[in-house]
Amino acid sequence: MKAVVLSDWGGAENFTVQDIPTPAIKPDEVLVKVKAFGVNPADFKTRSGAAPYSKDYSHPIVLGWDMAGEVVEAGTDVTTFKPGDAVYGMVNFPKPGQAYAEYVAAPAAHLALKPATLSFEEAAAAPLAVLTAWQALTEHGQLKAGENVLIQAASGGVGHLGVQLAKALGAYVIGTASGKNEAFVRSLGADAFIDYTQTSVEESVSDIDLVFDTAGADTIMASAKVLKPNGRLISIAYGAMDKVLAVRPDIRAERILVHTSGDDLRTINEFIDADKLKISVSEVLPASQIADAHQKLESRRTTGKIVLTFS
Ligand SMILES: NC(=O)c1ccc[n+]([C@@H]2O[C@H](COP(=O)([O-])OP(=O)(O)OC[C@H]3O[C@@H](n4cnc5c(N)ncnc54)[C@H](OP(=O)(O)O)[C@@H]3O)[C@@H](O)[C@H]2O)c1
Repeated sequence: MKAVVLSDWGGAENFTVQDIPTPAIKPDEVLVKVKAFGVNPADFKTRSGAAPYSKDYSHPIVLGWDMAGEVVEAGTDVTTFKPGDAVYGMVNFPKPGQAYAEYVAAPAAHLALKPATLSFEEAAAAPLAVLTAWQALTEHGQLKAGENVLIQAASGGVGHLGVQLAKALGAYVIGTASGKNEAFVRSLGADAFIDYTQTSVEESVSDIDLVFDTAGADTIMASAKVLKPNGRLISIAYGAMDKVLAVRPDIRAERILVHTSGDDLRTINEFIDADKLKISVSEVLPASQIADAHQKLESRRTTGKIVLTFS
């Protein structure tokens, strides 16, 4: 099979498309013929060697966690999927998922059936970002209907799904991005928009119940300051939480790491089936352009998601 192979830590020039053996499956896994795979900022952090979990890898390696495709073989213990099923999922995160390939050996517990309304490209774009948004808002953020939520970087891979999920959960949603993304963020259902290049978040809002900060270290202090007493700050990017809590000891602040879950994807499927959640794919590229995809992501200026295909 063809796969994108990374020869060493460092830049995206270390990727090449090569022929490598198709993986063998374990009893609890299925072999998926990949129709499309997704990329996330975690991919370029792992590629460079900077991610905390990079130590679990040795070169040459195949990166990638997000993929969608068709089951071609099911392990002897698998009862949930059969050959021919269209599936999607985040495979083995943060351990090697090896999704930048034509075939992936995926634990059945990490997959869900692909909603019929999603293309394979849309489904491949979703798993890591949508699981992050879902777990941040519900499991960690405990978002309740009627609360107000601020989503920092509302136009990004995670943020654009967070806006829609928060709306579907009944929240009043405020999104931040630069002005060129205002129409996109409002189209997702955001009730209010802050162009962070023109206005500071602190001057624009206050008394927020929950901030979901997907933007990072530069925004984390402002995210804390606009919360009401006992408000919740859920961050997925690096940021100095100790400094934040020194300034706002009266809030709950947490940095989370997404975990894989086929069950969460099945819950998320209900929002997709109810037409309350759309996956925005800004670009579909051939696998040979993986370096281009990584460089675009590293610019931090993309909207929605980038996916790649071998066909
Ligand atoms: N801990 C976890 O489990 C976890 C899971 C997923 C992702 N992450 C991390 O979360 C971060 C976001 O991931 P992502 O996939 O959503 O990234 P992304 O798609 O690359 O985000 C890009 C978006 O961020 C916006 N943005 C950049 N700086 C901003 C700022 N200061 N204020 C508001 N918006 C800003 C940009 O809008 P403009 O162009 O308009 O500025 C752009 O649309 C990354 O650092 C990623 O590694 C962590």
